[in-house]
Amino acid sequence: MKYGHFDDPRREYVVTRPDTPLPWLNYIGQEDYFGLCTNTAGGYSFWKDSRLRRLTRYRYNNVPYDLGGRYIYVNDAGTVWNPGWKPVKAELDSYECRHGMGYTKITGSKGGLEIELLFFVPLGRNEEIWKVTVRNRSKKRKSPRLFSYQEFCFYEALNDMTNYQRTYSIGEVEVEGSAIYHKTEYRERRNHYTLFACTRPIAGFDTDRDIFVGIHEGLHEARVPSSGKCAGSKAFGWNPIGAHEIDLDLAPGAEESFAFVLAYVEQGDRPRFEKPGLINKELGRQIVARYAKPGAVDAAFAELGRFWDDLLSNFQAELPDEHAARMLNAWNQYQCMATFNLSRSTSMYETGIGRGMGFRDSNQDILGFVHMIPARARERILDIASTQLSDGTCYHQYQPLTKKGNAEVGGDFYDDHLWLVLSTCAYVKETGDLSILEEPCGYADREYRIGADGRRAGAGGEPAESLLHHLELSIAYTMRKRGPRRLPLIGHADWNDCLNLNCFSTEPNESFQTAGVVGNSQAESVMIAGLFLHASREMSALYDFMKRPEDANRMLAQREEMLAAVESAGWDGDWYRRAYDAAGKPIGSKECEEGKIYIESQGWCVLGGAGADDASGPSRGRARKAMESVHKLLFTPKGVLIQQPAYSTYHVELGEVSSYPPGVKENAGIFCHNNTWIHLAWCQLGHGDRALEYYLSICPSAKQAEIDLYRSEPYVYAQMIAGRDAPCYGEAKNSWLTGTAAWTFVALTQGILGIRPDYRGLVVDPCIASAWKGFSATRRFRGAEYKIAVKNPKGRCKGVASVKVDGEAFDPVGAAAILPIFPAGTSHRIEIELG
Ligand code: BGC
Repeated sequence: MKYGHFDDPRREYVVTRPDTPLPWLNYIGQEDYFGLCTNTAGGYSFWKDSRLRRLTRYRYNNVPYDLGGRYIYVNDAGTVWNPGWKPVKAELDSYECRHGMGYTKITGSKGGLEIELLFFVPLGRNEEIWKVTVRNRSKKRKSPRLFSYQEFCFYEALNDMTNYQRTYSIGEVEVEGSAIYHKTEYRERRNHYTLFACTRPIAGFDTDRDIFVGIHEGLHEARVPSSGKCAGSKAFGWNPIGAHEIDLDLAPGAEESFAFVLAYVEQGDRPRFEKPGLINKELGRQIVARYAKPGAVDAAFAELGRFWDDLLSNFQAELPDEHAARMLNAWNQYQCMATFNLSRSTSMYETGIGRGMGFRDSNQDILGFVHMIPARARERILDIASTQLSDGTCYHQYQPLTKKGNAEVGGDFYDDHLWLVLSTCAYVKETGDLSILEEPCGYADREYRIGADGRRAGAGGEPAESLLHHLELSIAYTMRKRGPRRLPLIGHADWNDCLNLNCFSTEPNESFQTAGVVGNSQAESVMIAGLFLHASREMSALYDFMKRPEDANRMLAQREEMLAAVESAGWDGDWYRRAYDAAGKPIGSKECEEGKIYIESQGWCVLGGAGADDASGPSRGRARKAMESVHKLLFTPKGVLIQQPAYSTYHVELGEVSSYPPGVKENAGIFCHNNTWIHLAWCQLGHGDRALEYYLSICPSAKQAEIDLYRSEPYVYAQMIAGRDAPCYGEAKNSWLTGTAAWTFVALTQGILGIRPDYRGLVVDPCIASAWKGFSATRRFRGAEYKIAVKNPKGRCKGVASVKVDGEAFDPVGAAAILPIFPAGTSHRIEIELG
C-alpha cells in the first residue's frame, strides 16, 4: 500500500507519506472534549458542541482542503519546517503518522532533528495535550527554535465565520508566564475561557495572528517562524492566536520532551475576575501545574491506553478474514464511539454548524455502542426520547449542548420515532435493566419542572411520561399515520432523507427536507412498514420479557395488520416496492422507468419477517426472491447500489433523491449504511457466503489495493462509495460519521458471528462463509466473560449442531444456542460446532 499500513497489535494505522489521496482523519477525545486531527496535524477542537463551543478555528473547503490545525513550526538554523509536513511542506527526511485509539502521533525529521508530536485528550478532562519530543539524531550540537501555533475560535462557530463586523473588534487575551488565556466575550456573558500553555519555560509568545503569520502571508510562510523570534504581540480585536517560542539546545544524541496544553475552562461559581479586567485564572494555573509534574503527561496517556484496552475487550474475535478481524477488534468499535459522540455533526464533510445530533442517527449509533458503555447509552436514549413531541413525531435533530430540538429543521420524518424502539430494546437486551422504561423523560412540547426526586414532573407533580410511554406512542403513531394502502405515511422523508415525496420543490434556495406540506399527503413508505414489522416484534418480545403477554400480543396483532399491507401493496412481483408517491404512483417498481428497485425496502421487509420461508400463502419465499433481485440488480463488487436505474433527470415528485448526478449519494450511489441491512438479511436467510462477500465489498481495510481510487481512510467506513453510474465508480466520500459504523458492527457480530444479546441470555447463531473452518470470540455480557470457539468441520454456513459450556454438553434451543446469563465476574468456555 502506497500510503501506509495497519499495525494491528498496536491498533494503529500508520500513514507513511503525508500526501494521502484525501486528508486522513482521526478524532481525539472520548467524552466531552473533542478534536479532529488529520495526518498532517490539521483540525480543530471543541467542547461538547462543535457549533456552540468551538475552541479553535478551521476553514472548511480551504485550499488545500486541510489547512489550519495544531502546528509546530521548527526553525533549525534558518531552515523552517513542520514535523507533520503542513503547512510549510518542506521536504522531510522521514515522516510517519500513527492514528490510534484516541490519539495521533506524528513524527517528522529533517537535517538530523527528529520531532514527535503526540495529540490526545486525557480521560475525564476538558483539555488536550500536545506532547512534543525533540531528538537530535545528528553528530552536531543543535539549537532549534520551535513555535506552537493554533488560532482561537470565538465559540459560536457560525457567528465566528460570518460576522466579522463584530468579531474583528472583540478578541481579547491575557498572558501569564507560558499561559495564554483566550477570553473573548468573557467580559459580558461567558463564564468560560480557553487556555493554551506550555509545561516548559518559553522564550516568547504571540497572540496576534497578523503579527505571527502576517497580513499578506499564508500559514506556510508565517513571519515569526521564518524570522526565528516571537514578537510578544497582545491581540486586541482581529484574530487572536496562541503561539509559543521554545528555544532548545541539544547535544548530539540528546532529546527533550515537554507538552502544550489546550484547555476549555468553565468557572462555575468561582469569582469571575481576580482584579478588575483580569479573569480569575485559578483553574487555568491548576491545569498547567498538573501537566508540568514529571511523568504526568505519560501517565495520562497510559491511562487512555488502558481505557481503550478495557473497552475493546468487551468484544474481541479471531477470524479467518484479516479485514473483518481488524475492523471488528479495533477500528469499527472505535468508529462506533465517534458516531455515538458526534452523530453526524463534525467531520471533514460535516462542518459542525449544520447538523446537531440526528434523532434517527443517534438511535442507530447506540446499536454499535451499547456494549461498550451502557450507562452512556442509557443517558443518550433518555435525552433523545425527550426531543419527541407529544403527538409522536420528533425533532429531527438537536444540539448536544442544550439537548433541545432544532426548530429550523423541525420534525415530520415519519420513521424517526421507530428507531427509538430499536435503541431501547438493544439497551435492555444488553443490560437487563428494565428500569429505563420507567424513567420520566417527557415530551419536548410540554412544560415540566424538576420534582423533589430530581426527576421531571408535570404541573400537578405527576411524573413526566416514561420512556415506555414514548415507545408505545411511537408504535401508535405509525399505526395512526397510514395512507390509503394502510402503509405508513412518509412525511418529509423516511430513512432516505432524500426521498422527499411531499416537497415538490422548484425553488433552489429551499431545503428539500423541510419544504412542502406534509399535512394531508398520502405518500406512503414501504420501508417504514418493514421497519415497523421489526420494531413491533421487538416491542412484543420486550413485553414478553416484562411478563405482559397481553401487550405482547397486542403488538403482534398490529404487526400482522402491517404485514398484510406490506404483502398486498408492498410486493412488486420480484421485490418489495419502495413507496407510493403523493399521486399514488409506486416507486421502486417495474412500472417505473428509473428507480425500479431500491435497497432499503428489501432490507427492512426481509428483516421485519415479510415473505419468510415459513409464511403461508403467496408471500412464502418472497424474502429469498427479493434478495436474489438485490443480487442480480443492485450488487456490485464495490457494494450494493441504493437503487437502479439511476434517475437521469430531476423529478419534482421525488425530491432530492433525483437531484444528485447518477451514481452518487442517494441517486444510485453505494450507500454503505443500508448495505449492512442486506448483510443481516443474508444472514437471516442463512447465506453466509453472500453475507461475507457483501461485507468485504464495502470494507475499508479491503480497499487498500485500490486506494488511489477509493481515496478515503482505509480504517473507517465511509457513508458512500460512488456507484457504477458515476465516472468515479469506487470513490468513497463522507467517511467517519455514518450509520454504517454501528450497523456494520451489528451485521458482523450479530449477523455473521451470530453473537447477540437477548433478554434471556446470549444467543450464538453464526452465519459464516462456508470456507471458514471456524472462529473464536470473547464477549463480555452482563459482567461475565464468554469465551466462544466455533468449529465448522462440515463447511456449513449456519446451524448449531452441538454446544458445550465449560466442557459439559448443553442443549441448544432450536438451531441457535441461547447461553445462560452467568454471574458477573465469571468466565466461561463455550464450544460450538456447526453442522
Ligand atoms: C443522514 C441519515 C439518513 C441518510 C440517508 C444521512 O446523511 O444522516 O439520517 O438516513 O443520510 O439519507
